[in-house]
Amino acid sequence: MFNEKKANISAVGKYVPEKILTNKDLEKLVDTNDEWIFTRTGIKERRIADDNEPTSVLATKAIQNLLDEYNISPDEIDALVLATISPDMFFPSTAALVLDNLNIKNAFGFDISAACSGFIYALKIGDSFIKSGMAKKVLVVGADEMSTITDYTDRNTCVLFGDGAGAVLLEESKSDCGIIESILHTDGSGKDLLNITGGGSLNPATHETIDKKMHYIYQDGRPVYKFAVKYMTQVAKDVLKKHNYSSEDVSLLIPHQANKRIIEAVGKRLKIDPKDVFVNIEKYGNTTAATIPMGIYDAVQEKRLIKYDLLLLVAFGGGFTWGSSLIRWGI
Ligand code: UT7
Repeated sequence: MFNEKKANISAVGKYVPEKILTNKDLEKLVDTNDEWIFTRTGIKERRIADDNEPTSVLATKAIQNLLDEYNISPDEIDALVLATISPDMFFPSTAALVLDNLNIKNAFGFDISAACSGFIYALKIGDSFIKSGMAKKVLVVGADEMSTITDYTDRNTCVLFGDGAGAVLLEESKSDCGIIESILHTDGSGKDLLNITGGGSLNPATHETIDKKMHYIYQDGRPVYKFAVKYMTQVAKDVLKKHNYSSEDVSLLIPHQANKRIIEAVGKRLKIDPKDVFVNIEKYGNTTAATIPMGIYDAVQEKRLIKYDLLLLVAFGGGFTWGSSLIRWGI
């Protein structure tokens, strides 16, 4: 029988900028307060990158952390799939800049745009490269510098987002561990509820697009919240069911960190014990494509993720995009 290759996450890395923006700091910028932000979102503080630290630098530092901690040479890398909605520039891709920063010469790399689901999308692409034999070692990164696309006069969005990057390495599994399945969905009819409409080919950058703040993120939070709970729950159920698992089998759920209330609602609907639902939103806010790989890194550090655990990832974001990955943890 044909024995399909399986991709395993064999190393993890993370980077967050040093500068902290607290809820108290935001009280000085917009009409908000710590109590509202914390009770409505679960966020206490978020990290903000320096001017000389674009997204490529966050991603580079997360990968450098992975290479150092797991003693991997840059020469071993075959491919980089980088999820971001805050690239350094339209082109070259952030992945190209990162490969150059790291002096990785033998790899190809590219960016993918799937907003908060970006890491799950990138993981599925990396998984396919390993399965097909096209690459032996693939870096999958989620990196976003939301502070550069956030309007700090808009209280609806500026309290939510932060900056950071997380990286994982995929290689062929030598055991039963590895990525079991990822399911992805896209529905572009959600485009008006969560977007940045300025600066692209629809509305090329002009003084007017700048004056109208169209280069900043816009979100109609309430409907997005409802879709997020519904679709994250559904896709997580689907991936479990497809492989004959129930929520009781899940060792740890790492959901996208957009709102603690969304995370709790999804955990409850999936009937996963709150102690098995990973939350770090209080420290970092919503770092878009980076929340899940940063969560994986933190879970490993905190020994909440150990070999043979059944790990469930789930995300929802702009587009709309959503997806879920089921993984037999193998580090
Ligand atoms: O990551 C990608 C996907 N994104 C998400 O999953 C996010 C989904 N949405 C959410 O997480 C929530 O909708 C938000 C956190 C964005 C907002 O929470 P909410 O409970 O849905 O609040 P709301 O937008 O319905 O606003 C409630 C009230 C409003 O006042 P009125 O109209 O009731 O007088 C807002 O003006 O809270 C007000 N408000 C604020 N007050 C203090 C909105 N933002 C703030 C703020 N501080 N920062």
